[in-house]
Amino acid sequence: MKSGQPGSKSKKHNTDVAEDLTAVLSQKVVGQPAATKLIVPYIRMFQAGLAPEGRPVGVFLLLGPTGTGKTKTVEVLAEILHGSEKNVLKVDCGEFQMEHEVAKLIGAPPGYLGHRETQPMLTQQKLNAVTSEKCNLSVVLFDEIEKAAPSMTRLLLGILDRATLRLGDNSTVNFDKSIVFLTSNLGSREMMREITPDFGFQAGALKERPDLTSKLQAIAMASVRKRFSPEFVNRIDCIITYQPLDNEALAAILDNQINELQRHVNTRLGPRCFTIEVPMDTRHWLLQRGTSAEYGARELNRTIHRQLTQPLATLVATGQIEPGSRVRVDIAEDKENLAFRTAEGEEAPIPANPRVLIVDDNRDLLHFLERLMAESGWELITAESAGEAQRMVGQNRPDAALLDYLLPDRNGVELGLELRQRLPSLPVIIMTGSVLPPEDEVVCDQHDFPVLRKPFLATDIMNQIRNRLMPAAKAGG
Ligand SMILES: Nc1ncnc2c1ncn2[C@@H]1O[C@H](COP(=O)(O)OP(=O)(O)O)[C@@H](O)[C@H]1O
Ligand SMILES: [Mg+2]
Repeated sequence: MKSGQPGSKSKKHNTDVAEDLTAVLSQKVVGQPAATKLIVPYIRMFQAGLAPEGRPVGVFLLLGPTGTGKTKTVEVLAEILHGSEKNVLKVDCGEFQMEHEVAKLIGAPPGYLGHRETQPMLTQQKLNAVTSEKCNLSVVLFDEIEKAAPSMTRLLLGILDRATLRLGDNSTVNFDKSIVFLTSNLGSREMMREITPDFGFQAGALKERPDLTSKLQAIAMASVRKRFSPEFVNRIDCIITYQPLDNEALAAILDNQINELQRHVNTRLGPRCFTIEVPMDTRHWLLQRGTSAEYGARELNRTIHRQLTQPLATLVATGQIEPGSRVRVDIAEDKENLAFRTAEGEEAPIPANPRVLIVDDNRDLLHFLERLMAESGWELITAESAGEAQRMVGQNRPDAALLDYLLPDRNGVELGLELRQRLPSLPVIIMTGSVLPPEDEVVCDQHDFPVLRKPFLATDIMNQIRNRLMPAAKAGG
């Protein structure tokens, strides 16, 4: 890395973002380190302004068995870059199996029947619409390309090679600021044959097989060469073969899914939310039922949905779960189902060692508070921006949040409201160096965010948090 050049400050920031990207990507896309390692440098290049012009920022072909995270990778990337997994321009190639369907992507030439009513699907506007304030890189996904009619390949050639697509009306769409992903299940049946002998009858007993990776890669490449021209293959920057998921990866995915379900309950039910407790043996039970060589983590998702989400939804709909209660999920006596038991919220212990999220871009203050609170056995998660805070909260649920008003990407009150959406009972305290604008003061009042004027004593903060975590204080509010 060169240093000392103008703008090195923002470069530094970009490096942070990229490091963060690696961490978040590999946490959310489990067990596919090669994918993270190959994709992140391209984003880094783009953020550093060093991506080549006249072609997309990166073109990736993702191969491998079903349900191993190919599509998920693209969604997670969009979520990290833009804040939502929906910020992807996605073309489901299965919908373009006929030539006339492919034509819909680019629209009919003027004068042709249907020219007016058929808006092309791939317009500059649509490409720009998936960017965000945070980032101007469009994430583009052509999912399951092997299903599309051959003319799709010709259309793709132009995009991959010159970063342009000519529409029916002769205008062009520019893919310079796009990262393009192609996914394909090509060769996955053959890969299955390679993988399956290792499974036997015991679910998920995928043995270590060092040669498997290269075997799968060879199968994938052979089927790609059979289906696509060398010309096409040459325009792809990286071909990544996804690995079948082993037990450890599936266990991590299950944990992620349960956390996700809890977050969903919190945001959807707001003050009526409840806590889901899934002990280890229940998790093993779910894993055992959800492991399939053929469908990867998809089978696990189905099992979670059927055994956990749906019964919970029924309990909620029929009013059997008290707001604020805990729902414990155990294996039923018949071992065929799960049993749900609810306990009153009061039993939930007040955390003796609370985990506190502090968001401030003043590193010195952060370090100081960190040391001080650590001495009292409190756990601290620190973030320097609202975006970073949001990501950390996804990984570690805090018991309280202490937010500086002036953050680089939004103000602390806005962040407080966002966090409350995810964790409705989260105590939020705002720190500020000066008086808040009146409208924000009103918001703080309404939502019971105490405002601490700087400078303050660290013990003040700790007392504030302690008070907020007491049930009496909650009942009063
Ligand atoms: N490596 C993975 N890490 C995390 N979740 C995964 C992974 N693989 C699959 N999943 C889960 O399974 C679902 C299906 O995976 P997907 O990415 O659509 O599979 P495919 O590889 O067939 O595109 C995802 O939505 C996700 O919930
Ligand atoms: Mg897919």
